[in-house]
Amino acid sequence: MRREFLIAPSVLGADPLALAEAVESLGGREDWLHLDIMDGHFVRNLSFGPAVARSMRRRWPDAFIDVHLMVDRLDVVLPLFLDSGASLITVHAETEPQLLHATLASIRAAGLKAGVAIGPVTPVEMVRAVLGCVDLVLVMSVTPGFGGQGLIEDTLERTRELAQLRAAGGYDYLIQMDGGINKDNAARIALAGCDVAVAGSAVFSSPAPAEYLDEMKSKVKEALSNAGFRADRQE
Ligand code: DX5
Ligand code: ZN
Repeated sequence: MRREFLIAPSVLGADPLALAEAVESLGGREDWLHLDIMDGHFVRNLSFGPAVARSMRRRWPDAFIDVHLMVDRLDVVLPLFLDSGASLITVHAETEPQLLHATLASIRAAGLKAGVAIGPVTPVEMVRAVLGCVDLVLVMSVTPGFGGQGLIEDTLERTRELAQLRAAGGYDYLIQMDGGINKDNAARIALAGCDVAVAGSAVFSSPAPAEYLDEMKSKVKEALSNAGFRADRQE
């Protein structure tokens, strides 16, 4: 049974002076809201602080707020987000890998979902040891740090590999891809095994973000049902 394909618009792609209006322009079509946190050290950019997550929670009490930490000092930054209203917090496996189990456990202990992310050059092998204790694996499909980049094609293979590892190991983590995703490549990443697509600039640069999300969803639905139909024929 295939998981529902979810879309998590990344507010990094919105006008920072009009974040609330940008989210409202999604017309409730979004499944999650993706909040990129950057420290100017792990990645060469700075973005938002915990106050934004807290305001999002106050403004949209039922939203699923998906926080992606691209930071080096997890000892400083993670506590700031554990009680910020986040629904899920994803940390990079490249940040303090020797503490990864404890970090993921601390996120779950706070009552949140826990995710682990890998950058586009980090082997999938690096997260293999924690696949049994995460709710999500985030495959970066661009170089972390900026929106508006093109999808790195060979990251699709990592998604396929994670889907195979999940099936073989009986795990139940979601697979998320993040960066360079739009309505024209969403079907391909879904067919590769992606369950949650993060899209920033493609969605928020559209003149009609809500309709854009509708179109992304319908293209994915058509591709998955066709693939399912072909699989039925082969059986
Ligand atoms: C990049 C962030 C992504 C980015 C996605 O480091 O993790 O979430 O905002 O933006 P687009 O969809 O514009 O690539
Ligand atoms: Zn992100």
